[in-house]
Amino acid sequence: MPKPSADNSKTAKASRRRLLITIDGPAGVGKSTVAKLLATRLHLFYLDTGATYRALAYEALRRGVDPRRETAVARVAGRMRLQLDWDPARGLRVLLNGRDVTRHIRTEAVTEAAAVIAQHPNVRAVLVRLQRRLASGPGVVAEGRDTGTVVFPHAAYKFFLTARHAVRARRRQMELRGVQGRSPTLTRIAGQLKARDALDRSRVVGPLVKPPKAIVVDTSRLPAERVVDRMLAALNKGSDPSRTMVTSDGV
Ligand code: C5P
Repeated sequence: MPKPSADNSKTAKASRRRLLITIDGPAGVGKSTVAKLLATRLHLFYLDTGATYRALAYEALRRGVDPRRETAVARVAGRMRLQLDWDPARGLRVLLNGRDVTRHIRTEAVTEAAAVIAQHPNVRAVLVRLQRRLASGPGVVAEGRDTGTVVFPHAAYKFFLTARHAVRARRRQMELRGVQGRSPTLTRIAGQLKARDALDRSRVVGPLVKPPKAIVVDTSRLPAERVVDRMLAALNKGSDPSRTMVTSDGV
């Protein structure tokens, strides 16, 4: 395993003691599915950082707080008690102030509000601290937008997933059907994805970017299991993470 660069920060020291793997990328590239499979195969904790933004968005909406109001949202963030209960057999359970909100945080309304609150630097600061606290155990597979750049910049392995826009829209549609029992048209979903991508990529703090030296995997034509196989191969090789693995042809 490559050693993280020398650094005296607390994060760097903690990173050296644990196996940290980050998976970043835009919505609909299959990050959650792949991260869960990888965490299960390696017996590591699965950290869904998007769930922290979603839980906060849900709580802000529930309290009638406008997601655009940074200070008010940051205050809600500071007060919420969030637990991410990961069990490979049962999946991820999201507990907010003791209440199970796993499904409630996946609706369209919460998704849109989460994209707005994720723009606020003060909110991100609170949530990044929370995410680091939540990442328990001997190792973590973290997924999100900034896990390899901001949350765990010293992670030993970093992956960046991509996929064609149409594929991402279809995956998101399936996900929404599972959660809400119905979903908007593909055209509408594709538009929503574009809008969220623009927000994710353009924000000043924690934007969606490929972390330096991350291994890139295009998942457009690869089933999740095969993506994980490739990741495991990279890990087993203790490979030089600066090598980019592009698999756009599904080979
Ligand atoms: O990944 P997911 O769709 O659950 O993320 C929900 C929202 O949280 C997204 O709009 C994304 O912008 C934001 N997010 C973020 N940084 C992360 C993870 C998610 O800004 N590390």
